[in-house]
Amino acid sequence: MFSIAVFISGSGSNLQSIIDSIEARRVSAQIAVVVSNEPDAYGLVRAAKHGIPTAVINHHDYATRQEFEGAVLSVLQETPIDLICLAGFMRLLTPDFLRRFPQRVINIHPALLPSFPGTHGQADAFNYGVKFSGCTIHFVDEGVDTGPIIMQAVVPVLPDDDVESLKARILAQEHKIYPQVIQFFAEGRVKIVDKKVIISGGKPIEGFAYTSPPIEIF
Ligand code: GRF
Repeated sequence: MFSIAVFISGSGSNLQSIIDSIEARRVSAQIAVVVSNEPDAYGLVRAAKHGIPTAVINHHDYATRQEFEGAVLSVLQETPIDLICLAGFMRLLTPDFLRRFPQRVINIHPALLPSFPGTHGQADAFNYGVKFSGCTIHFVDEGVDTGPIIMQAVVPVLPDDDVESLKARILAQEHKIYPQVIQFFAEGRVKIVDKKVIISGGKPIEGFAYTSPPIEIF
């Protein structure tokens, strides 16, 4: 069985969508462990409700990033892990850590990368005044939100939006694309060619352009 570790720091709504998709057999994978650096992360409760093993590795308990990651590695060594899914995990991973899992660490970011990286993707996009935003699942490399892009979902920014309503619209799409991407991996369909991610097989994209606001004169 394709085995994943999910790293969280907070609410874990993406974790929940992954759990639900596995239980509904949309995704052929198992969650070997949920790792949180925050002892109070609600995602730990979600995991426990579904009988999924959890590990709390509080970064405050470690003097250095290396020691923190050493503790994470010892948890991961207990079971084979095919893919590490960062889902609202608010710690940067060092190159040393990433080298141990080549092309096996992915992250979800709540904006259309490479625009609006960092911790306030939704607010930065909203304040910029973009007409579309969305979310991106990408490989994790040594930069901040810079790795090869695997999948994106686009949502419009509506005239009455505030940051919160935009966040909610984006989050609803996060909950769809994360399980989908995990399933692509489980099916062995993801590869990187010249820094571009290719998903083999699959349906053609429907519709080739969206505008916001809508075009009225044609
Ligand atoms: C999501 O918006 C994700 O894109 C970002 O952090 C948030 C995590 O939400 N990286 P949750 O913990 O999955 O509810």
